[in-house]
Amino acid sequence: MPRLLVTGAPGFLGRAVVAAGPAAGWEMVGTALTHPDWVALDVRDAAAVVGVVDAVAPDAIIHTAYRQHGEEAMAVNAAGAGHIAAAARTAGARLVHVSSDAIFAGDGDRALREGDIVRPVTAYGATKAAAEVAVEAANPAALMVRTSLLIGGPGHAPSPHEALALAAARGEEQVTFFTDEIRSAIQVDDLAAALLELAAQDGGGPLHVGGADGLSRLELAQLVVGAAGLDVGMLRGAAAPADRPRHCPLDSGLAQTRLRTRLRGAREIYAG
Ligand SMILES: NC(=O)c1ccc[n+]([C@@H]2O[C@H](COP(=O)([O-])OP(=O)(O)OC[C@H]3O[C@@H](n4cnc5c(N)ncnc54)[C@H](OP(=O)(O)O)[C@@H]3O)[C@@H](O)[C@H]2O)c1
Repeated sequence: MPRLLVTGAPGFLGRAVVAAGPAAGWEMVGTALTHPDWVALDVRDAAAVVGVVDAVAPDAIIHTAYRQHGEEAMAVNAAGAGHIAAAARTAGARLVHVSSDAIFAGDGDRALREGDIVRPVTAYGATKAAAEVAVEAANPAALMVRTSLLIGGPGHAPSPHEALALAAARGEEQVTFFTDEIRSAIQVDDLAAALLELAAQDGGGPLHVGGADGLSRLELAQLVVGAAGLDVGMLRGAAAPADRPRHCPLDSGLAQTRLRTRLRGAREIYAG
C-alpha cells in the first residue's frame, strides 16, 4: 500500500485527508505541531523535516500545515513549505502543496485561472504567495492546489467560517459579512478526496480546486445559518474595506477534468 504523509493532521483539512486516505488506498502518517497523537514536526525546522520524511519514507506528501496569523506565519507558511518541498524532492516523494485564493488581488471580474497574476493584498496572502515561490524553487514537479474557504456543511463539524456565522446568528458575535468578497467555498471532504486523487497523479504547477459556486461572505453565512434553522436576519452585511481581495472565485474547470470527485458548490451542500 503506498504511504502518504499529511502535515497539519489535526487541522480542519488535515483531519479530513487522514480520515479519507485508507479508503482511497493509502497508508496514512500524520504530523502535528502540538498534538501528541501525531508525529511531532515543526516545519520551520529544515533538519526536522528531512528527519521525518526520511523516517516515514512516503510515496506522497500532502502539505496542509500553516498559520494564518502572527509573526511566525511567514516562516511557517513560506520557509516551512520550502523545507517540505526540498525534502520531498530528495526523497522522491510526490508533493501536493495546499495553497490559497488569498494569493490574488481580487480586482478582476471573472473567475480566476491558473495563469492569472499572483498579487496578494493581505499579509496572509503574501505568506501563501511566498510559499508557492519557495515550493516551485525547491521542487518544480510539485502540485500547488489553490483552494478557497473550507466548509463542513450540514452534519459535519463546523469550520471556523461556519462557526462564526452561527455565533453571529445567535447574537454571540458582532460580525460584518462582506457583500462583495466573492469566494468559491468548498466542502472539506470534497477537497480531501480531490487532494488524495491528485496525490496519485503526475503533474505539477498551480491547480485551482474550489467549490462550484462563487458566493459573497454574506451569502455563505446566510446559507450556513439558514441550514441550521437560525434567523438569517441576524446577519449584518456591508462592502469590504479597500484593502481586502474582492473578486476571488476560482475557475476549477481544469481540475474537474482531472478528478472523479465532483467539486460541489455551497448551495448544493447546504440544500442537504
Ligand atoms: N481554512 C480555510 O478556509 C482555507 C482557505 C484557503 C486555503 N486554506 C489552506 O488550507 C490549509 C489547511 O487549512 P486548515 O484550515 O485545515 O488549517 P488549520 O485547521 O488551522 O490547521 C493547521 C495545522 O497546521 C499545523 N501547524 C501550524 N504551525 C505548524 C508548524 N510550525 N509546523 C507544523 N505544523 C504546524 C497545526 O498543528 P497543531 O494542530 O498541532 O497546532 C494545525 O494542525 C492551509 O494550507 C490553508 O492555507 C484554508
